[in-house]
Amino acid sequence: MTHARQQTIQVVAHRGASEAAPEHTLAAYRRAIEDGADALECDVRLTADGHLVCVHDRRVNRTSNGRGAVSTLELADLAALDFGSWKGIEESGERPDRDPDRGELTSVLTLERLLELVADAGRPVQLAIETKHPTRWAGRVEERLLEMLRRFGLDGPPREAGAPAPVRVMSFSARSLHRVSLAAPALPTVYLMQFVTPRLRDGRLPAGAGIAGPGMRIVRNHPGYIARLHRAGHRVHVWTVNEPEDVELCVRLGVDAIITNRPRQVLAQLGRA
Ligand code: G3P
Ligand code: CA
Repeated sequence: MTHARQQTIQVVAHRGASEAAPEHTLAAYRRAIEDGADALECDVRLTADGHLVCVHDRRVNRTSNGRGAVSTLELADLAALDFGSWKGIEESGERPDRDPDRGELTSVLTLERLLELVADAGRPVQLAIETKHPTRWAGRVEERLLEMLRRFGLDGPPREAGAPAPVRVMSFSARSLHRVSLAAPALPTVYLMQFVTPRLRDGRLPAGAGIAGPGMRIVRNHPGYIARLHRAGHRVHVWTVNEPEDVELCVRLGVDAIITNRPRQVLAQLGRA
């Protein structure tokens, strides 16, 4: 089965506009929306008291002034930390000192707050949500995620026929995607790949996975694999594409989405800014 090819390559802001502003903060996502990104990527983890927060690493050490694993901290502990200073937010062009949401700009971002931001964006912005360490929690990450999407009316098909799905779920874990596809069949799923393992070589994906998410290294080393994925009926969303020559290669190969830390620059390279 071959699918109808998309006209425009979608530009997805990886952890927000994370080159310009501290990753996974409200500042980074606001900036990505201002820059014109089609979609926002975020990683979600469960706190000790069951909240989904947007944090990439298992521990908060790299991106905040605190220490410890997200899974052992409660939301109130995380809310007391500063997730902005490590990156020098003032240099990013944001003016937190003049911003009424100053505290919020660099504090830990909950998935709920991110969904509110997207709802208020004033234009359609899609979300690509990655479940982190889903196996550790035996289904709870997906459960909480689907509960939250349901609350926002985002777990079903798009409200207008033919419109793109507002949310998709991504994971390196096929099991996580399988759970999501069983519980919410209308939600698109993206299977993230770091390597082309023998099972993936023919372009087919594990059960429950609809879209292929190869890393840029795969694209550089196995450019022919993109056509194989397309022939098998999968759209292809590539991460993390920051260098102009990588963007060019993705364009040449006809990928469907580019996930990047630099949405503004990629949109400019694609002639869309
Ligand atoms: O968008 C997929 C990409 O984010 C996967 O890698 O480590 O940045 O979550 P990572
Ligand atoms: Ca990610």
